[in-house]
Amino acid sequence: MNKKVYIETYGCQMNVADSETVASIMAGQQYEYCDNITDADIILINTCSVRDHAEQRIWNRLDHIKGLKRKKKHLITGIMGCMAQRIGDKLLEHTAVNFVAGPDAYKKIPLLVEQATEGLKQGDTEFDPEETYHDIIPKRATGNQITGFISITRGCNNFCSYCIVPYTRGRERSRDITDILNEVSDLQKNGFKEICLLGQNVNSYSSGDDGFPELIDRIALFAPEMRIRFTTSHPKDLSDDLLKAMARHRNVCNHIHLPVQSGSNIILKKMNRAYTREWYLSRIEAIRAYLPGCGISTDVFCGFCGETEEDFEQTLSIMQQSAFDSAFMFKYSERPGTHAAKHYADDVPENVKIIRLNRMIALQNKLSLQSNRNDVGKVFEVLAENYSKRSKEHLNGRTETNKTVVFPKENYGPGDIVRVQITEASSATLKGNIIQ
Ligand code: SAH
Ligand code: SF4
Ligand code: F3S
Repeated sequence: MNKKVYIETYGCQMNVADSETVASIMAGQQYEYCDNITDADIILINTCSVRDHAEQRIWNRLDHIKGLKRKKKHLITGIMGCMAQRIGDKLLEHTAVNFVAGPDAYKKIPLLVEQATEGLKQGDTEFDPEETYHDIIPKRATGNQITGFISITRGCNNFCSYCIVPYTRGRERSRDITDILNEVSDLQKNGFKEICLLGQNVNSYSSGDDGFPELIDRIALFAPEMRIRFTTSHPKDLSDDLLKAMARHRNVCNHIHLPVQSGSNIILKKMNRAYTREWYLSRIEAIRAYLPGCGISTDVFCGFCGETEEDFEQTLSIMQQSAFDSAFMFKYSERPGTHAAKHYADDVPENVKIIRLNRMIALQNKLSLQSNRNDVGKVFEVLAENYSKRSKEHLNGRTETNKTVVFPKENYGPGDIVRVQITEASSATLKGNIIQ
């Protein structure tokens, strides 16, 4: 009988995409995929290191797996992803862990599993600047075949001073257009409705003569029936050419995720973000000019080294001025080995970080509510994603602008695109009705 693999994924969408790549690698070696951890012969955990809290969750999970291993002696546990890369040796000291594999070592996982069954405890965290998993079509999770994620770049070269990602993912590399289009056709064949292109900075995509706007053109024409999204855009590289390309294609969604991180020029400089507050606001203006009604979301965090009350006020004011539709908000977590950890003191007290975070959240709730209220009465094309948890008679879907809408299903189901008129708005969701 084939051995069963269970993969658990933490962290960003890149990790979700990588887990699908690993599922494909394992399936090629006759392993069977299972959805339940208790059925597994092999447990793979794909980890995140972006904040300390993300790592703590994994340590807790490993203590749980230690319990499972007591009952099932042959169980093998492998740790993949950013934590494996960052602190592989420390993870190997945990009794529950048999091997670790960094983000460029996934093709070796079958071998690592085999050697683990022979009693070897080892790690492979070699970076391979050439590895793009170019010959592997990811094995998509079964179930909700609505949105398929495709990595277009791996790694990151930006070295924002607070961020661990360049150290856990290695140098940036772009995947070939043909590999990306192969993945697009695989999604088409499997009935997916939406593509989400992934990269730490999609705007720096480069393959031969083609940059990101050209890639968008190619994919939009190749899959005219599919919706196309992408994340993340680094503000320093968000070009007018990209905005024009988005405006050219009906199937490219009117939404940009543009992490601002801070509104203070002093802090942005210390963060090594390579743009100013003024540049960021000029990019927001450009988006609104080329793409009227475009949804704009952001990432922002408070409490970075040396952040004064005045700096923080600048963050609140840039949030207000940009009128974000939604935001992921965090408080600074020092990551060992980064430039900030080495050179700046993590000197904003924890209680101040919490107060500032709550102030950002309160402001964003107001901004989201305003933005959602503006949509009442408007009609959007909505891609239905699933049935509402509260009522099977309602569907959840997303507008092009990336807002969630709940509406009575009538004769429709997940995967359908319907026109919905918005009737009600809260800060988190829109409600509406299908119109013909
Ligand atoms: N490549 C993306 C971000 C990837 S990490 C970009 O540049 O926008 C996702 C988000 O986590 C970041 O945008 C940032 O807001 C947050 N983040 C990263 N490192 C952090 C840290 N050390 N502490 C708190 N938040 C952090
Ligand atoms: Fe981290 Fe900056 Fe790279 Fe984003 S662009 S992954 S924040 S270093
Ligand atoms: Fe986390 Fe690594 Fe993604 S640190 S956010 S899983 S790139």
